[in-house]
Amino acid sequence: MSNPGKELDRSSRNRLTERLLPQFSGDTLFDRLARCVCRAGCLPRKELYEAWEVARRVRRRFRGGRVVDLACGHGLLAYILLLLDDSSSIALAVDRYIPDQTAKLKACLEESWPRLAGRVKLVENDIALIELSSNDLVVSVHACGGLTDLVLDRAIAARARIAVLPCCHDLDVGVSGGLQGWLAGPLAQDVVRATRLREQGYQVFTQQIPCDITPKNRLLLGEPPRI
Ligand SMILES: C[S@@+](CC[C@H](N)C(=O)[O-])C[C@H]1O[C@@H](n2cnc3c(N)ncnc32)[C@H](O)[C@@H]1O
Repeated sequence: MSNPGKELDRSSRNRLTERLLPQFSGDTLFDRLARCVCRAGCLPRKELYEAWEVARRVRRRFRGGRVVDLACGHGLLAYILLLLDDSSSIALAVDRYIPDQTAKLKACLEESWPRLAGRVKLVENDIALIELSSNDLVVSVHACGGLTDLVLDRAIAARARIAVLPCCHDLDVGVSGGLQGWLAGPLAQDVVRATRLREQGYQVFTQQIPCDITPKNRLLLGEPPRI
């Protein structure tokens, strides 16, 4: 797997701005995407790499369906998932607070890829209130602590495919399944999450995105049996 932009510190929380455009001067899809993000000037660098690495892995497993990006922040993941698979015609990106600068990112992305225009709906709402269906591909990057469990609950209830990259494990509140004698608490919680998907009949896939981007790099994917 190639590592685009490897020479940069990919974990940096500094915003990508036009100053970094020369770092992304190639013809690859990633470079084009990164140039858009630089022009928009609103996204921490690590979020570009996280969204890209998650999207690539998700699309190797799951094609098509409505993309639903829960706790979406600026909604970049939803855009990348459509870019990587045109057989998903639409995406819904939900966050209880969508930053104002998201409009600039959206404009840059839709100017670069006019075929994406109008296909990603950004909605300010609580993820508990979003209607899901079994045709959805539910994704969530760094839904903090128990929010990841809520995302899993919602996807399981709808029998939707799911991909989460958990973070901010709360060891006082989260379920560790009695595994903490063997496994570090955050890992124990993610094992419990994977087990829960299995118990619900899901086929589970566990992967990691590169740890130089984030140490919270465990990617959990699940697919319910198709009836
Ligand atoms: C750590 S950020 C992750 C944002 C984005 N997915 C990313 O990777 O950059 C967590 C996000 O969850 C959102 N959030 C927290 N609770 C929520 C809820 N109940 N419903 C919708 N969004 C929520 C916050 O507003 C925040 O944008």
